Amino acid sequence: MELLKALEWRYATKKMNGNVVPQEKVDYIIEAARLAPSSSGLQPYQIFVITDKALLAKIQPIAFNQSQITECSHLLVFAAWDGYSLEKIEKVFAKTLAERGLPADRMDEYKQRLWGMYEPLGKEWHATHAAKQAYIAFGLAIAAAAEQQVDATPMEGFIAPELDKLLGLEALGLKSVVILPLGYRDEAQDWLLNLKKVRTAKEDFVTEIK
Ligand SMILES: Cc1cc2nc3c(=O)[nH]c(=O)nc-3n(C[C@H](O)[C@H](O)[C@H](O)COP(=O)(O)O)c2cc1C
Repeated sequence: MELLKALEWRYATKKMNGNVVPQEKVDYIIEAARLAPSSSGLQPYQIFVITDKALLAKIQPIAFNQSQITECSHLLVFAAWDGYSLEKIEKVFAKTLAERGLPADRMDEYKQRLWGMYEPLGKEWHATHAAKQAYIAFGLAIAAAAEQQVDATPMEGFIAPELDKLLGLEALGLKSVVILPLGYRDEAQDWLLNLKKVRTAKEDFVTEIK
């Protein structure tokens, strides 16, 4: 489906019908997220794909009992690094250089400059910066889902520290950022389905500087 048509078609589905999304569509959506750009190419985030019904039932109260959590087919949890470190940056750069067949020291100066910038900013800034990168992947996943005619509800409505605890994210150096149930709209019961999509008018949204 053409991108703009897909974006008009999609909406933050409030009620899903429980139908299962084919694995190839889930893979496509995840691949779009994996291909997202990120600052310095660090990709400081991961996606957890949850289909375990018992686990979804435990997540639902953490997400203010939103029904999509248990009605969805797959729940994507976007989790970002809880902080940067020179070791983590080195690991990413080493992989990039190895895959490109370039000398391992090719990016040493850039790496040091990057860490010199990041280190004094502190762990809270690091986590926020990593979360911002995760949102780019999240946006692409939303668009890819729409293109695949898969419904998706972007969600910040959950208690992140509780989800982190449930999924054991702290031990992995991760924090949950945002979640995305994937599934299919319940056409008979979703109150939002037929309501107009409302957006800021173009003239208020865009300022042209010529
Ligand atoms: C970061 C983010 C967090 C959101 N959190 C929730 C949420 O927890 N639950 C929900 O039902 N909708 C949530 N929404 C959906 C928005 O309310 C919705 O995208 C917005 O009103 C625009 O409507 P549309 O997506 O239907 O076009 C969220 C959207 C974004 C982008």
